[in-house]
Order: sequence, then structure tokens, then C-alpha cells
Amino acid sequence: MCGIIGYIGFRKASEVILQGLKTLEYRGYDSAGIAISNEKGIEIRKGAGKVADVSNSLLFTSLNGKIGIGHNRWATHGKVCDKNAHPHSDCSGNIALVHNGVIENYFVLKEELISKGHKFKSETDSEIIVHLIEENCKSMWLENAFVEAIEKLQGSYAIVLVEKSGQKLFAARKNSPLIVGIGKQEYFFASDIPAVLSYTKKIVPIEDECIVIASRSGFKIFNFTGTKIKPKIIKVKWSSKVAEKGGFPHFMLKEIYEQKLALYNSLSTNVSKAKKMIVNAKNIHIIACGTSYHASIIFSILLEKHLKKNAKAFIASEYRTIANPDKDVLAIAISQSGETADTLQAIRFAKSNNAKLLALTNVVGSSLARISNEIVYLNAGPEMSIAATKTFSSQLAIIYKLIFENLEQKTIPKLIESALSHEQKIKSLAPKLKKKNDIFFIARGLSYPIAMEGALKLKELSYLHAEAYPGGELKHGPLSLIRSGVPIIVLAPDDESLPKIYGNIKEVKARGAFVIAFTNSAEIIKEVDIAISIEKTQSELYPFLMLPILQLLAYYVSVSRGIDPDRPRNLAKSVTVE
Ligand code: M6R
Repeated sequence: MCGIIGYIGFRKASEVILQGLKTLEYRGYDSAGIAISNEKGIEIRKGAGKVADVSNSLLFTSLNGKIGIGHNRWATHGKVCDKNAHPHSDCSGNIALVHNGVIENYFVLKEELISKGHKFKSETDSEIIVHLIEENCKSMWLENAFVEAIEKLQGSYAIVLVEKSGQKLFAARKNSPLIVGIGKQEYFFASDIPAVLSYTKKIVPIEDECIVIASRSGFKIFNFTGTKIKPKIIKVKWSSKVAEKGGFPHFMLKEIYEQKLALYNSLSTNVSKAKKMIVNAKNIHIIACGTSYHASIIFSILLEKHLKKNAKAFIASEYRTIANPDKDVLAIAISQSGETADTLQAIRFAKSNNAKLLALTNVVGSSLARISNEIVYLNAGPEMSIAATKTFSSQLAIIYKLIFENLEQKTIPKLIESALSHEQKIKSLAPKLKKKNDIFFIARGLSYPIAMEGALKLKELSYLHAEAYPGGELKHGPLSLIRSGVPIIVLAPDDESLPKIYGNIKEVKARGAFVIAFTNSAEIIKEVDIAISIEKTQSELYPFLMLPILQLLAYYVSVSRGIDPDRPRNLAKSVTVE
């Protein structure tokens, strides 16, 4: 949550920063702001709203100067308003700072700073950092003042600070992502790689608990104990086009369509070391959040059923309370971003109890990748929409590769293509659902986690209440909610669960439900109000047919309700707070 960016070099900083902020908008869009150091001192423009709107009204790019910082906010401390937007400056206006994370001891520090005469302009936890540095500057140079301030902070942070003289940028990270992009006599700081891809593909992911200081002639990294760190430069292959919509109205639709290619890439990933870890594991804990958790459920089912493994899927934020990891546990974390705080904390807990760690992530050099013993990269390419689409199907593809020997590489991408061929029929369902208050999904077996994903996508993007149930669970409670006209979306492939799901359809029809089915059963097609017939495939592969259909459904319901599916309210792509 929150996107931060910094630039020092020879270009017009406001333009570089604005472009970076637009790319990083998926990290937060409550407010946006920029601070540029130039001959007038530090000029700050900031306000509540999306970056394009704030920038247009406050004319970000009218600011001259070749060094600066920028921020997209996802509010934690303090409401969404102009004064709480970043950057924040100290009392003197000599320094300004952007922050992503949460300062847990901000209250105590704020009281102390107020007693020393500091005047606060916002309600944020972030603002204390800049005043703390200002306070330290009374007795030391800025570099030491910065380092000493960092030592006092508890919580999570990625910070970039600009100073009035315009000669240096100062940055630090702890439990929040930060990368440095390296150009020729120019350096870029950002929360994520796509923000700098138009300028450089040479990236240094900054390790946790490190400080970076950059001038135009170079940069240095040292850890919190003062030891100098040699930068590990990676060359990313992603094109800067990933941050463009490429003719699609939204990133989400583009990424739904990118799935076929993403899956080819994921399926060519070498998973042999990870496979060995799984084969040797006595107990397996799979840890994830949100959409990635749905992949974990499918993983655990397949591990139990096909590899006869003792495997369990855990919601990451619950892990420390309910799990008991030890040296016999292989903890597998699934995370698109590799930066989800709940997942990282759970995996650290597993590690501290001697579990081995395997990561499935999309982001090279992410925090998750760095703490794991073994990593399988999804190779799905960057995902810009808040909703996880192609990265979820890529997670599934990797899982299938880990479970099934001799998986035919072309079958899965073809299923995606087949599902997408139903786009217009799926679009025509949106007007029938867009005014409903509650929508239920039912499914059985491997289709149930996919139904959970369909319901999550729908609520996340359309703000309608949606729940998924295993068909057999309805009669244990939720059936009381089924009345005339209540929509039920059924996933009914012709696998072993078909006769039972047919019975569930009868039950809800008897109570007047409006039933939409995705199926290849002639009996079910006759029974329901609307059926979209899907092709036949092996029973384990139906998730790849059902998933894109539900993604498209959520997309079109969202659009038909006038919502921007790329930017659903209150959400951020990478959830870096617990
Ligand atoms: O980056 P991660 O896979 O760890 O993210 C986990 C969830 O926050 C994420 O899947 C979220 O549920 C999606 N935005 C849903 O579309």
C-alpha cells in the first residue's frame, strides 16, 4: 500500500515522478503528491484524489528541478484529505519525505517532538519522521540525522527524503518494498519495478533494514548496523509496455486476455528443485491471502489427493494463531507481489520454527523471494490491475506442473482461450446482475475454490455482496437466504460431482432462485434460467475453463455499475500492512 518514488539526475524530475506515480497508482489512490527541490527551495504540491486529477489541477509538471519525490497514498493514519497527502515537510521546509508503511511508535515520538516545539500539519504517522530528522539536524549533519531517526522507528517503512540543496536523496526500508533503478548519472527510487522501466532495466532490490544515499555521481547502501552492502544488480526483461493498456479499456481486461501467454511462460518454468522439496516433505503448510489463498486451497487438495501428502492451506493472517510449524514442515508461501505483510509475517514465523520455505511469487527480488530457501517465479509479467487475474491462473499452472507428471503444455492455455470465446455471452449477464443485492456461487470439488475466487472478484470489483458455498452446504444454513429471484451462479462441469450439484440446483430452483450455470451437462442446461455451455475436458482441468469466465463476469458487472475495475475503492494491489 502506498507508492513512493524518488528521482535524482538530469531530467525534469516532476515528469519522471508523475509518470512513476501513474504506474504505481495500483498501490493507492486516496491522494497524490510531489516535492521538487529547485532554486526556490522545496516546492510541494499534493491533494486528495487520483494522481491524474490532482496533478492536472495542481500542475505537477510545472515544477522545475532535477531532483524530487512523489507519493500515492492508501490511507492508514488520518482521513483522506489534502493535508494528510504526502510529501510531508519539516517545520523549516528544508527537507520533505514520502513514506510507505506504518510507524507503530509514532504517538510517543509525536508527543516528544511537540514538546520540543515541532508543529505538525497532518494526522499521519509519517510526518513524525521528517520532524525527527529535523530535530536530529540541530546537533549533526543530515546523513547522521537520517540514520539516527531511522534507528528510533518501530514498524514498517520505505522512505525517500529530499533535501533543499538538491544534491542527495536519502532512503531506507524495513518490511516495505523499495528498489533503486540505475541510469547514467541518474537514480530512481520506487516501490515497484514498473515505475522505472521507461528509463532503466537495471534494478537493485534493496534488502530489508538498509539505508541508501544517492547523489548524481553514485549511490551507497549500508545496513542498519552500518556495514556497507554491495548492490546486487538485476536486469529485468519486462518491457515498459506492461504499464500501458495496449488498446484495452482497462488493465484488468488486458490481463485477462494475457493469460494464455502468461500460462505458456509459467509452464516453461523449471520446478524440479521445488518438486524435490515437496516429495521429501512430511507435512506441508501453504500460506497465502485473498486470491492467492484460493490457489493454496487447490494446491492442498491436489497434494492430498494425487501425491498423498499431508497438506493444509492457511490464511496467512491466521497462521501464527492456529499453526504449529516445525522442522518437518515445508511452508509454501504463495504471493503475487511477494510483499504481502500477512504472508511475510506468517512465513517468518514458520522459519523461526525451523520449517523450510518455498515461495511461489511473480516478483523477482521481492521480500518473499529473499527469505525463502527455494523460489518458483510465476513469469506472468507485471500485473497492474488491483484484481489478480493472470497471476492467479499462473499460480495454478505452476501448481499443476508441481503435481502432475507429463502435463501437456498446450492444453491449459487452450482452455483459457476457449473460456474467453464466451466473452459476449458473459457480458450480456451483467445487466441481469448489476442491481442485485446478494449473489451466491455454488460448486463442488476443485470448482469450489474457483467459485470462491469468482465471489471475491465480484464483491471486490462491483461492491455487490457475493458468497460462494460448496453445493452441499446450502442446506446447513444459507438456504434460508434463497428466495424468488436471488441469483445463484453454478459451476457444474461434468466431473464426479455432477449428480450432486444437479440436486443442489433443484433445491434452489424449488425456492424461486434465478440460476445461471456454466456447464456442459444437457440435464443442467434444461433445468436453469441461463446456461453458458463450456467445452469438455479432464475433470482436474476445469478450473482453467471456469476461472476466466468468472473474471469476465466480475469485470463486466463492475463496468456496468460505472466502477473502474482497475481501481476499486479502499483496496491496494500490494497489502504491506498487517
Ligand atoms: O500479492 P499477493 O498474492 O500476496 O496478494 C494477496 C491478496 O491481497 C490479493 O490476492 C487480493 O486478494 C487480490 N487483489 C484479489 O483480486
